[in-house]
Amino acid sequence: MQNSNTTTNTPFLDHVSEGLNTQPKYLSSRYFYDKKGDALFQQIMAMPEYYLTNSEMEIFTEQAPAIVTAFEMNPEQSFELVELGAGDGTKTVKLLAEFKNSDYDFTYLPVDISENALSNLKTTLSKQLPDLQISPKQGEYFTVLKELLTSDQPKVVLFIGSNLGNLSDDLANNFLTSLGSYLKKGDKVLLGLDLIKSADIVLPAYNDAAGITRDFNLNLLARINRELGGDFRIENFSHQPEYSEKTGITKSYIKSDIDQTVTIGALKESFHFAKDELIHTEVSRKYNDEILNKVLSGTGLSLANKFTDQKKYFTDFLLEKD
Ligand SMILES: C[S@@+](CC[C@H](N)C(=O)[O-])C[C@H]1O[C@@H](n2cnc3c(N)ncnc32)[C@H](O)[C@@H]1O
Repeated sequence: MQNSNTTTNTPFLDHVSEGLNTQPKYLSSRYFYDKKGDALFQQIMAMPEYYLTNSEMEIFTEQAPAIVTAFEMNPEQSFELVELGAGDGTKTVKLLAEFKNSDYDFTYLPVDISENALSNLKTTLSKQLPDLQISPKQGEYFTVLKELLTSDQPKVVLFIGSNLGNLSDDLANNFLTSLGSYLKKGDKVLLGLDLIKSADIVLPAYNDAAGITRDFNLNLLARINRELGGDFRIENFSHQPEYSEKTGITKSYIKSDIDQTVTIGALKESFHFAKDELIHTEVSRKYNDEILNKVLSGTGLSLANKFTDQKKYFTDFLLEKD
């Protein structure tokens, strides 16, 4: 059955059509985040296996004053603090509070593809930091950059939580080049990246014992059922993550457990899935300095400082526009 979202969420519809008509099939992780996906991601962040959130939280908790000082913003001049893919803002609030405590004058502009995430974020922040000036923007970060970064005010851009890791190295380079082109000399970017480490630490974060990451991945199919009138039988698909220590890349797939055909009402089209056929849904690139420097080449952004947790699992890199 189609529902009312069918006609409104055209980017999702177009994406599903393209991804399932391509061989090998793929769907983008950006569509994980509907209301159900946002809630599952909050559960993922609370899982013992998901070290990424705890590591970055430790950095912000222990080093917020040093990070805020390192931005070198002029306390006499107001600036814009833009956050790309803000999610629930649990970690960001540490930095926002530090900026506020240090009497900086700024507007916080969180961007997220999920309207639901932004609305929850606004409610939470209005309680935690009632004086905060906030101007949320719903949209896909590749497409909103241009309209977002037009003012003359200095900018600090937060791109944390390993969000850049969801892009291939080429796309990450394109994205940072585009971001750099909208920034002015001295503007800053805080880039939170997961570091390359052994599989026994990384893989459980994408394949937890309780099956939350499984539900998160398979929610993509459930979302197609809800919003695009699909008839995926979720029980006939499984979650299949992998990680290579050599490349430092995790990939998640949805595997068809049987030979089956699925119809998507809004596309008026059926798709065949062979037994064991994979749909690629997510990339999570882990970094080191060498890979980051390659991805930064030609972007107009240079590494100015970095903040790492005690276990050396995760780093927030401070970049400066040349
Ligand atoms: C992995 S979560 C991280 C959230 C937050 N940055 C953190 O560190 O906790 C990714 C967030 O980015 C958003 N997102 C993913 N792809 C996006 C895109 N292409 N454009 C805008 N937002 C996106 C999701 O909706 C989600 O809230």
